[in-house]
Amino acid sequence: MPGAIYAEGLVKTFGDVRALDGVDLDVPEGSVLGLLGPNGAGKTTAVRVLTTLLQPDSGRAVVAGHDVLKAPVQVRRSIGLSGQFAAVDEYLTGRENLQMVGELYQMSSRSAKARAVELLEQFNLTEAGDRSAKTYSGGMRRRLDLAAALIVRPPVMFMDEPTTGLDPRNRMMLWEVIESLVAGGTTLLLTTQYLEEADRLAHDIAVVDHGKVIARGTADQLKAQTGGERVEVVVHDPALLGTATEILTAFSKGGSTVDKHTRRITVPVAGGAKLLAEVIRELDSRGIEIDDIGLRRPTLDDVFLSLTGHAAEADQAVEGEASEAAKPGASAGAGVGVVGTAGEENK
Ligand SMILES: Nc1ncnc2c1ncn2[C@@H]1O[C@H](COP(=O)(O)OP(=O)(O)OP(=O)(O)O)[C@@H](O)[C@H]1O
Ligand SMILES: [Mg+2]
Repeated sequence: MPGAIYAEGLVKTFGDVRALDGVDLDVPEGSVLGLLGPNGAGKTTAVRVLTTLLQPDSGRAVVAGHDVLKAPVQVRRSIGLSGQFAAVDEYLTGRENLQMVGELYQMSSRSAKARAVELLEQFNLTEAGDRSAKTYSGGMRRRLDLAAALIVRPPVMFMDEPTTGLDPRNRMMLWEVIESLVAGGTTLLLTTQYLEEADRLAHDIAVVDHGKVIARGTADQLKAQTGGERVEVVVHDPALLGTATEILTAFSKGGSTVDKHTRRITVPVAGGAKLLAEVIRELDSRGIEIDDIGLRRPTLDDVFLSLTGHAAEADQAVEGEASEAAKPGASAGAGVGVVGTAGEENK
């Protein structure tokens, strides 16, 4: 039986760009799929197709038991969506925003009010609840948008980069909220640039690049595929970074990664502690002073790097991307009001 989110051969093109180039997904009920991929990989497009905001050119998708093309209304009734760019009504207060969404979902005004109180509390917005949303900071808007997606406790949730722009405390808060949702049986598809987030929350991970799923598995499976340990060295003198990289590359079984800013060189190795000792001797004999050295297991960042050829871009400013993606469609469609915006979005 297909899972709560199922997709087969999804294709979506924008002119020459194949944003989705044959994507298959299957997310079992009650589990979390982490969709990872570099900027422009097609993550948001996949979320928009699965939430009926965009029609695929070809392929099929079934969400919560309903076909996204044949039964979009039923799909929308069964899902919650928090888009990449928080969509809140600027002129309403936080509380009013939440109540409005509740009422859009046909809740009684009384239960929408009560739910709004609960969510404001949960998302640390009680104090700001009666201020108009245009006075909110970026992180507050994002939290309001996420709270709105949870108003009706839908069985299937989509979150597109939910914690981008949140400070560490609020990110942790959201992780806990997500964990309790999932413990309650919610199925979640989540995109993220924070690989630590995928590691913690996702049962399964699909790595997307150029509109294709290029790897999938649990975090542990993907790490195991990436193979072996890493030697990580922090060189004291930036001028010796080049020489040190050459030395380390000789021990490497697959290239090297150099972060000039932190003077850190990372190479995948086979050989464990014995090899580490050899590396230290060699660096020492060539007169290279090191601030730190260690052997570590691969992280999801390493997986991402080895699959896509570049690091995740979590630290990039969101603003830079916003102008492109906020063209008609993206910003309004990707937000709170699946109910309210889907009609005009569906093209
Ligand atoms: N409405 C659109 N019109 C034209 N091109 C689009 C449109 N939406 C997306 N694209 C293009 O499709 C590709 C995939 O975009 P998408 O937004 O799905 O990427 P993403 O994986 O979400 O990236 P990011 O990490 O930056 O959010 C990109 O090349 C993008 O420019
Ligand atoms: Mg995106």
